Amino acid sequence: MSESSPNNDIRWSSRWLFVLAAAGSAVGLGNIWKFPYVAGENGGGAFVLIYLVCVGLVGAPIMMAEIALGREGRSSPITTMAKLAASAGRNSQWSIIGWMGVIAGVMILSFYGVIAGWALKYIGVLASGEFENAGASVVESTFNGLLASPVEMIFWQTIFMVGTIWIVARGVSQGLEKAIRWFMPLLFVMLIVLLGYSLRSGGFEQGWQFMFDFKWEDVGPGTWIMALGQAFFTLSLGMGTMMAYGSYVPSEARIGSTVATIVALDTVVAISAGLVIFPLVFVNNLDVAQGPGLMFVTMPLAFGQLPFGSIFGSVFFLLVSFAAITSAISLTEPAISYLVEKYNSSRWRVAVGLGFLCWLLGLGTVFSFNIWADLKLAFGLNFFDLVDQISSNILLPLGGLLIAIFITWKLPRETVAGQIEIESEPIWSLWKVVTGVVAPVSVLVVFLNTFVPFF
Ligand code: PFF
Repeated sequence: MSESSPNNDIRWSSRWLFVLAAAGSAVGLGNIWKFPYVAGENGGGAFVLIYLVCVGLVGAPIMMAEIALGREGRSSPITTMAKLAASAGRNSQWSIIGWMGVIAGVMILSFYGVIAGWALKYIGVLASGEFENAGASVVESTFNGLLASPVEMIFWQTIFMVGTIWIVARGVSQGLEKAIRWFMPLLFVMLIVLLGYSLRSGGFEQGWQFMFDFKWEDVGPGTWIMALGQAFFTLSLGMGTMMAYGSYVPSEARIGSTVATIVALDTVVAISAGLVIFPLVFVNNLDVAQGPGLMFVTMPLAFGQLPFGSIFGSVFFLLVSFAAITSAISLTEPAISYLVEKYNSSRWRVAVGLGFLCWLLGLGTVFSFNIWADLKLAFGLNFFDLVDQISSNILLPLGGLLIAIFITWKLPRETVAGQIEIESEPIWSLWKVVTGVVAPVSVLVVFLNTFVPFF
């Protein structure tokens, strides 16, 4: 692929920076906010094991596929898909994968910015010490007060979005890489500190048992569906993010081992987040199946009862905010790389425009918690739920499905083998079966479930 575009020559400065950038994209609210509460509601250990199977069997091959396609095309996902389809003599409509990714990215970032804004606010709330020895009613009323105030939510959403766009606009090496070099190591340090804190809290054993005691009676078809959906979201798959990041990967990096490292880091963070959260919940006799409120009600309540809880609680929300911003910047890359390519425009201009669009759409999520709370737009869902469902449960799985089909059944073997370096015949067949059959069929089941809740 030699056609020139403004993104052609951009490269991560090393394989490790790509690993950190991709892990930064993968590790986000999905790991720290969503994974623990979904595991908490779905039986703990049973969910964790099935989630690991989904990550290995579906997530990893699709991530390899996205990075391989991105590096082969060396352009934005939209252009990459169009170029690769054309060179393989396939229909140019395959570029729809890129378009869906752009739309999904805008939708996800719109609500991601709002929820990350809550985490930003909680850094200060915890640090102020106002939850020390506070009862559940105080913690709940702080959270409900935030949800009831559009002005406050917009304030925090705006800060988060301005920070995100400032990084994105500065470009891959001056913006993304610089942020990642700082935020990712700090994130790991904070996680280790919090693990140590949790280990000494007195509830660690119970937390560990909850996450790793596997009981068959807890497993139902719904567990598989939740686990696969979570694997997709947490690994940032199906919307071209990994394709866009993959287009900057140096030619000599090996995709297989790189993906194994990224997936391992993401999984370690998700499990560690559970091991930070559950012990603190158990030691305070709180409810693990709290749902989305686990992070903003149960956790502050737990920290309030523990020694130095204000400091560690504040660190916890700083960790969440760092994790969120390194994911948010990646959500914009499919769109930004395309706009820069198409209009030969500066990243500043397109980043500000895109950021404003996401911010504006995010107002719908803000209002969904207060003035529009009762406004059901379609299928009985409010604005936030609708945007979340369409992007996470429809566009991502559909994107992943099409990517898996395209790479296994539509591209010539030499193109793919050149990227993922599989020489042995049995391994090639295994790759083909896993990526071309197992992954798409599994995704199809999850996808259909969104429309036909037959379980
Ligand atoms: N992986 C991110 C998380 O777990 O929070 C969310 C995400 C980021 C999804 C980027 C999709 C994406 F392209």
